[in-house]
Amino acid sequence: MAGRTEHVSRILELTRRAFGQRLEQEPGLTLFDAEIPPLQSAAPKYPDLESFHLAIRECHKCPLGKTRTKFVFGVGNPRADIVFVGEAPGRDEDLQGEPFVGRAGQLLDKILAAIKFSREDIYIANILKCRPPGNRDPLPEEAELCLPYLLQQIGMIQPKFICCLGRIAAQILLDTKTPLGKLRGKFIDYHGMKLIVTYHPAALLRFPSYKADTWEDMKMLRREYDRMKGRPPVV
Ligand code: URA
Ligand code: URA
Repeated sequence: MAGRTEHVSRILELTRRAFGQRLEQEPGLTLFDAEIPPLQSAAPKYPDLESFHLAIRECHKCPLGKTRTKFVFGVGNPRADIVFVGEAPGRDEDLQGEPFVGRAGQLLDKILAAIKFSREDIYIANILKCRPPGNRDPLPEEAELCLPYLLQQIGMIQPKFICCLGRIAAQILLDTKTPLGKLRGKFIDYHGMKLIVTYHPAALLRFPSYKADTWEDMKMLRREYDRMKGRPPVV
C-alpha cells in the first residue's frame, strides 16, 4: 500500500487533472490549492452525467464493488449551483442506489428546506460510490480510487459552491487533516468554487447541539448564493 506522502500527492495530482483547466483560467487561488501548479485538464469523456453514470456503474476498482448492493452515483440537478458532498452510502443508500435517503438524508431534506432549497435545486453525491461494510470510514485507497469520479461529476456540473457534509468529506476533498471545527464557518477557495464545510446530518442526530452552528453555515451559504444571483436574501 502507498505511504501517506505518496497518497497525498496522488490526491493532489487527481485534483489537478480534474481542475487544471480552471486553475489556468483563474490564477492566484489561495489556501488549499496555493501550491498546485496549473496543468491542462483532460477533455471531458462523457457528454452528460447519465452517460458517465452508465460507464462507471459496474466499477470493481476496489473491493467495495463486491460487497455493494447498488452503486450510488449521485442525484440532483445536473446544472446545480451547489453540490453537496457526503462521505459514503449507508445501508439505505446501498439498498436504494441514491445518496442520503436514510435518517440522515431526511434531516438533510429539512436542512435544505430551512434554506429554501429542494433536492431538485442542488446535486448530492458522496466521496465513495459504494457502501463500506458496517459503515466504517473510507480507507485511503478507496478514497483515492473513487475520488476521480466525484471530481469528474463536479467538473461536469461546474457548480459555484460545494458544501462538504462532515469531517471526512471535507478532509478528503481538501486533502487536509485540519479538524472540522477549523474548516467550518467560512468559504474556502476550491479551484475557483466556494467550498464550505459543515456538520454531517448524522452527527446532528447524535449531537443536536451542533445544529446551531450548522444553521449559521447554511445561512451563510444561502446568503452568498442569493448575493451571487443578485437577489434579496431569503434567510
Ligand atoms: N451518509 C453519507 O455520508 N452519505 C449518504 O449518502 C448517506 C449517509
Ligand atoms: N465530528 C465529525 O467527525 N463529523 C461531524 O460532522 C461532526 C463532528
